[in-house]
Amino acid sequence: MTVVSVAPRADKTVVVLGTGGTMAGRAASRDDHVGYTAGEVGVDQLLAGVPDLAAWRLEAEQVAQIDSKDMGLDLWLRLLARARHHLARPEVAGVVVTHGTDTLEETAYWLHALLATDKPVVLTAAMRPATALVPDGPQNLLDAVALAGTGCVSGVVCVVAGQVMSATDVSKAHTYRTDAFSCGDAGPLGWIEAGQWRPLRANVAGGQWAQLALPEATQWPRVELVFSHAGQDGALVRALMASPSDRPAGWVVAGTGNGTIHRDLAGALQQAQAMGCRVLRATRCAQGRVLGEHAQWPTAPVASPYKARIWLMLELLAAA
Ligand code: SIN
Repeated sequence: MTVVSVAPRADKTVVVLGTGGTMAGRAASRDDHVGYTAGEVGVDQLLAGVPDLAAWRLEAEQVAQIDSKDMGLDLWLRLLARARHHLARPEVAGVVVTHGTDTLEETAYWLHALLATDKPVVLTAAMRPATALVPDGPQNLLDAVALAGTGCVSGVVCVVAGQVMSATDVSKAHTYRTDAFSCGDAGPLGWIEAGQWRPLRANVAGGQWAQLALPEATQWPRVELVFSHAGQDGALVRALMASPSDRPAGWVVAGTGNGTIHRDLAGALQQAQAMGCRVLRATRCAQGRVLGEHAQWPTAPVASPYKARIWLMLELLAAA
C-alpha cells in the first residue's frame, strides 16, 4: 500500500460534528492535565485554534457538549442522524466527530454498525484539555480533517496520536498518556504523520445494521454488562432479573480469559436465559478474542464487552 500526501482540498467540504470531551476541556491552569472540565470549548473555537485548518473547506456543528462518560442512546441517535444527513450531501467528502476519549470506542462501534458509507467518518479526541501548555487536540483534529477530506480511508475510523484505528479494534488502553489507544493484536489501519497517510491495511466494512428501524432511546431493549471475577456470586444478575421494571432483555458477560464464567454467575445467567434473556459471552482480557463455540454461551461477534453490548441491543431490536 502506498504512502499518500494529505494536502488540503478546496473542492470538498468536511463537516466537523462536535460532542465535547477533553479536546474541548478547560482547566484553571496550563499545567493541569487532569483537573479540568470536559466539553467547554465550542467546536468553532477548536477549529479556529488550528491555523493550518484554514486551508480546508469546513463546516462545524455542535451536536453536544458533554464529558463522554455521560454518553447515551439519546445522543448516539442524534449523532447518527446528523452523520447520515451530512454523508448524503454530494459535496461532503467526509465527517469528523470530536469526542471524549472515555467512550470513543463505543461511539465508533455504534456508528460503524449503523452507517453504510464509503465516505470517511473520523472520530478524534484528546487527552489534554484545550487550555494545556501543549495540547494534543490540535494535531489530532488536523489529522482527522486530512483523513476525512482526502478520502484515503473509508467508513468509520478513529485517529489519535497519528494512529488510525478501526472501530472494531480500537480501545482506550491508558488512563492519561496522549498515545492512549490500542488496537491490540490487530494493529492500526495505518499512520498519519507529517502530512502523509501511511496505510497498513483496509478498514473493515460497516453498516451491518444500517437498514434497521431505530426507535427512540426509551424504547430500546435493555442490555447489561456483567464481569466474571473471583467471588462473583451472580447476585447482581438475580436482583435485576427480579425487578419487573429494570429486567434486562440481554446480558453480555465479560468472562475470564477465553470467556469462562464463575460457576455461581453462570447459575444466575442460566436462570436469566430460562426467563427468555439473551446472554452473550465476551472477554475481560484487553487483547485476543474468545475462541471456540459453546452451546450454552454463544460468543459475541466482537471481543470487547462494551461493543458486544451495542451489538446485542441491535440484534434484539432486529429480532423484535
Ligand atoms: C471524556 O471522555 O469526555 C473525558 C475524557 C477525555 O476526553 O479524555
